[in-house]
Amino acid sequence: MMASMKHNLVLFALFTLLSTFVVSQANPGYNYGFDWGGGWGRGGSNNNNYNSLTPYFYDYSCPQANDVVISVLEKAIAQDRRMAASLLRLHFHDCFVKGCDASLLLDDSDNFVSEKSAKPNANSLRGFSVIDEVKATLEEVCPETVSCADIIALVARAATVLLPLGRRDSKAAYMKLANTTIPPPTLIARKLIASFKQQGLDEVDLVALSGSHTIGVARCTSFKKRLYSQNGKSQPDVSLEKAYLNELKSVCPSSGGDNSISPLDYATPKSFDNTYYKLILGGRGLLFTDQQLYSGNHPKLSQLVKSFAEDEKLFFDHFAKSMVKMGSISPLLGTNGEVRKNCRRVNN
Ligand code: HEM
Ligand SMILES: *[C@@H]1O[C@H](CO)[C@@H](O)[C@H](O)[C@H]1NC(C)=O
Repeated sequence: MMASMKHNLVLFALFTLLSTFVVSQANPGYNYGFDWGGGWGRGGSNNNNYNSLTPYFYDYSCPQANDVVISVLEKAIAQDRRMAASLLRLHFHDCFVKGCDASLLLDDSDNFVSEKSAKPNANSLRGFSVIDEVKATLEEVCPETVSCADIIALVARAATVLLPLGRRDSKAAYMKLANTTIPPPTLIARKLIASFKQQGLDEVDLVALSGSHTIGVARCTSFKKRLYSQNGKSQPDVSLEKAYLNELKSVCPSSGGDNSISPLDYATPKSFDNTYYKLILGGRGLLFTDQQLYSGNHPKLSQLVKSFAEDEKLFFDHFAKSMVKMGSISPLLGTNGEVRKNCRRVNN
């Protein structure tokens, strides 16, 4: 399984301790994901332990939840490959703002401003209508059961790894926090570490989760500065390899073209693999923050980049563990929060 992953597109694979479902055989574009270290017991016959997250949370209350997610995603990704990357990113942007509570999905209301208009999100996040479609279908199949926070996690897991469930939804959005706690692509290594540390994530999590940038794209505006005037000098970032720099300049001119996009991993943009780290070793990370992991004068981070570049399985193992850790940031459990009926609005 692991060996066959390499040349395949990312996506969808759901592993449980008992069985592996290879989804969508007829559609070889997407299957595969991560074999996921184990360690989750079912904890006896009761799977709804409301005070902790578990992958089995909906086994009895909504056993169809996964199938619904898979079928909506298959359709969405068949129409637009990039959607897998966009959906994976939503989980990150939800979890880093007051925990994984779907505060990200709320639209503007009288009581709060939506996080969707915060700086890291505006004109950048995608996939909200896919989440709406999953939610609408789940409301038909199992009404008022599957939270929007868990839908974001289920969708990220369909793109990558098995994640524990049981989160409930916030009753507010936190746009100000979204502006400050999601790291911008301009941070130096030390500040990236600090940003992740605030969320209870360490250096290994930082390097492993950044590996998400093995898929998806960034807009020119997210990396322009390093092409022309890093640190306010009118010089490019010295850690950028020259040929790659010149290619990037052609997609991203010094003025205009802000919305032109470029793959985060130009070598294998559609494949969830460890090429991202190999590129960084050669000065070909797209974002300043990607390159900082290796070129930021931080021995621990550079060593991790080297290890993941050399050993893909090691990357997958750590990615899976770190996704679980990120997905466990301050969940609302038990009777805290609510299960929204529409992910865009709090319940009445
Ligand atoms: C380490 C700190 C991180 C920074 C500074 C960062 C920054 C960014 C930026 C600036 C973009 C491009 C946005 C645009 O130009 O519109 C991007 C894209 C992306 N990020 Fe990150 N990111 C980080 C960590 C993560 C993590 C932890 C994940 C997921 C677990 C993630 C998943 C993604 C994905 C999949 C895309 C591509 C989205 C698409 O193509 O629609 N990133 N990131
Ligand atoms: C957050 O960022 C957005 C977009 O840059 C800006 O319009 C808004 O005023 C900021 N809000 C706060 C509360 O900082």
